[in-house]
Amino acid sequence: MCGIFGYIGSKRATPILIDGMRRLEYRGYDSTGIAIKDGDISIFKKVGKVSEMRSILPLNIQGTSGIGHTRWATHGGVTDANAHPHASASGDVVIVHNGIINNSRLLRASLMAQGIELKSETDSEALAHMIEIELAIDDDPEAAVRRALQKAVGTWGLCVLFKNHDLIVVARNGSPLVIGKGDGETFISSDGPTLSEFTDRVVYLEDGDIAVVTATSIKRSSLKGDSKKVEVTVLEKSWGEAELGAYEHFMLKEIHEQPDALRHCISGRLDRVRGNGRLGGLRLSPSDLAKVPHVRLIGCGTALNAAEIGQLLIEKLARIPAVTHIASEFRYNEPVINPNALHFVISQSGETADTLSAVKEIQLKGGQVHGVINVVGSTIARQCRQGVYIHSGPEQSVASTKAFSNMVAALTMFALQVGRSRSTSKERGQEIIHGLQQIPHLIEEYLENQGPIMEAVELVKNAKSVFFLGRGLSAPVAKEGALKLMEVAYIPCLAYPAGEMKHGPIALLEEGSPIIFIVPNDHVKEKTVSAIHESKARGAKIILIHEEGDDISLEGDVNIAIPKVHSLLSPLLTVVPLQLIAYHTAITLGHDVDRPRNLAKSVTVE
Ligand code: F6R
Repeated sequence: MCGIFGYIGSKRATPILIDGMRRLEYRGYDSTGIAIKDGDISIFKKVGKVSEMRSILPLNIQGTSGIGHTRWATHGGVTDANAHPHASASGDVVIVHNGIINNSRLLRASLMAQGIELKSETDSEALAHMIEIELAIDDDPEAAVRRALQKAVGTWGLCVLFKNHDLIVVARNGSPLVIGKGDGETFISSDGPTLSEFTDRVVYLEDGDIAVVTATSIKRSSLKGDSKKVEVTVLEKSWGEAELGAYEHFMLKEIHEQPDALRHCISGRLDRVRGNGRLGGLRLSPSDLAKVPHVRLIGCGTALNAAEIGQLLIEKLARIPAVTHIASEFRYNEPVINPNALHFVISQSGETADTLSAVKEIQLKGGQVHGVINVVGSTIARQCRQGVYIHSGPEQSVASTKAFSNMVAALTMFALQVGRSRSTSKERGQEIIHGLQQIPHLIEEYLENQGPIMEAVELVKNAKSVFFLGRGLSAPVAKEGALKLMEVAYIPCLAYPAGEMKHGPIALLEEGSPIIFIVPNDHVKEKTVSAIHESKARGAKIILIHEEGDDISLEGDVNIAIPKVHSLLSPLLTVVPLQLIAYHTAITLGHDVDRPRNLAKSVTVE
């Protein structure tokens, strides 16, 4: 999704902006641009990568303030003209904007009626002209931005540069923006974690905020004009390095980081003696947990798949009803909210607009929401104010891998904690804790001996479609495997609980159709074997993910063995070969695995 990076200080702004924008690249984008104030404001923008935009920059731009943007097209095609920044008619006001201005058609028509020539098809450009018109009234940049935004309907993370004022005005409404306070310099980013390379002191803006930023000061106010306190938060040092290191791609690096990421996630959160989880951030006592009538889990994409595993574990361990919801559907389905129930929203980025809307809907109806979030200080984490950080470290690849595992681990610990406050015995709790503590090591063991992944790739790489089938806890794992392969290899995939195959999808099978079966050694294994037989009888080629030493491997054409694992924790192991199949298929097909087409890392529009 779109990214913003801004700088005002005493150093040359251009290299700092380029560095910041490079750190935003993982979010997905199609064009880039920067505006530098050096007397006049100069704009350089281009379709393509930050490196391509860099190639059009003159070597001698000296300005010490500027704003940069990576655009993921929403209004208007992917063209140089539609790339940000956008300038006002005189060029004295220049903006970058994330979000969507819903009434842009009206605003653009009104500007054109006033004789203003619009140079792009975007909704954002209108804001630059509107601010300039307002500035003519009193030459007060903050007041001009405020009045212009009062006429806009929609969402914005906005940065405005003025030719005649040494400041940047920023505004936030439904699209994240964080200010970083340095020594004699100030940074602005739409992605908090990118600021950690520049400073550890940040100011989070709230929806409806406007801030006037100089090299040494930050002044915050509301859209109405009331002044607001500037609260500086010190960023925690991130344990993970967001650099590639020895790996060729972030996706592969992050797959291999799963053991350490899991260690960080479970560290200090398991009470072996009592066989219990210890998730302090939930702020729920055992008696609170004992009274919970039901749990709802909400997320999108990979987070939703993790939520489905969490749902099954909560029902198994805690014996309370749990149900999963697609975040983008949730608030439009008029949900009935029980204030005593628990609602978990699961999100890696903590910025997903659909998930954030669900949080607000639940809170509006008096419900309590807990976040299961990776990015510390993200919008959803702050909106929930309670929950669990999953501590995956920075996830740069668009296709989520290590965040999935940590979401599952966090939900497992939660299920255990509720379970212990109700019916789960200490011994069962201890057994699960022992199993969880083994997982990082078991993943390492598997990664050292990955099995015939490339044989699986040969079967799927040219397939018309690929089936992923599993039962019980492996059904959401099948969905996650399918999502990964679709995202990075662009192969249509279908994921089903294996028993559902015969009720329709089996019609698609032809001689040689590849099916990936996820079959750990659990109570539904034998049931899955029937679906394998039915598929083989119709010519399907079977790729089998199974536990080592299990004679079910006789059933597969390609057999990928994972180490033996506690049956409730199998998703943490079975997902890894699926991630590897997706990665290697994408590489074999020559795709940009870290930045798959059309996708964005953090989806901040509905
Ligand atoms: C899948 C993927 C997406 C995200 C989804 C939710 O690899 O990355 O499906 O899982 O957009 O994102 P978060 O977890 O940031 O809310």
